Amino acid sequence: MLKIGIISGSVREGRNAEAVTNWIHDFAVKRDDDVTYEVVDLAEYPLPLLGASLPKVQQQEAEATIKAWSEKMASFDGYIIVAPEYNHAVGGALKNALDHLKPEVANKAAGLVGYGSLGGTRAHENLRLIFGELQVADVQTAVTFSLMTDFENFSVFKPADYHADNTNKMLDQVIAWSGALKHVREDVEAVTN
Ligand SMILES: Cc1cc2nc3c(=O)[nH]c(=O)nc-3n(C[C@H](O)[C@H](O)[C@H](O)COP(=O)(O)O)c2cc1C
Repeated sequence: MLKIGIISGSVREGRNAEAVTNWIHDFAVKRDDDVTYEVVDLAEYPLPLLGASLPKVQQQEAEATIKAWSEKMASFDGYIIVAPEYNHAVGGALKNALDHLKPEVANKAAGLVGYGSLGGTRAHENLRLIFGELQVADVQTAVTFSLMTDFENFSVFKPADYHADNTNKMLDQVIAWSGALKHVREDVEAVTN
């Protein structure tokens, strides 16, 4: 059975990420795929800025958080990244969290879910560049929620029905590639061991 992590990509207090992530999780679970879906809330991993020097006590805590984040992300075969758009890019918390990773996510698939005035599409394009470097295979179909039409008052999540089609397509693609890339990882491991 595949394991897919749904990463909630904002730590802002009162974030919309929570409602969007829960909607995606509920939608995915109802499909009855041969997949375990697990929500990962970035706010539960208060990661230091990569490479920052900290007082000793904080450093120990930070190292434990980095380890927990690394192990959690390594445990999945694929990801669904729920990413708000901040200043035409992916938000700083998510970028920093991704900067802490490399082998944990290599040769795995990712689907993108975004929200913003243009559906978070600029954050998605930014993420596709980042994933190129991390050797993550991001699938073509993205789910793009508009702050104007899929939220009431920019804060109460009420997605339009038509997003179901795209969400199904995105999940189908992530599942197909997550399964295929499992074999690629086995081949890479066999060559390097
Ligand atoms: C500092 C800041 C910059 C933002 N920049 C953009 C932007 O460039 N494009 C956009 O569509 N929305 C932008 N937004 C709106 C956010 O996408 C929106 O507030 C979203 O709900 C943030 O995600 P979160 O609530 O999960 O933290 C910005 C919001 C903030 C606070």
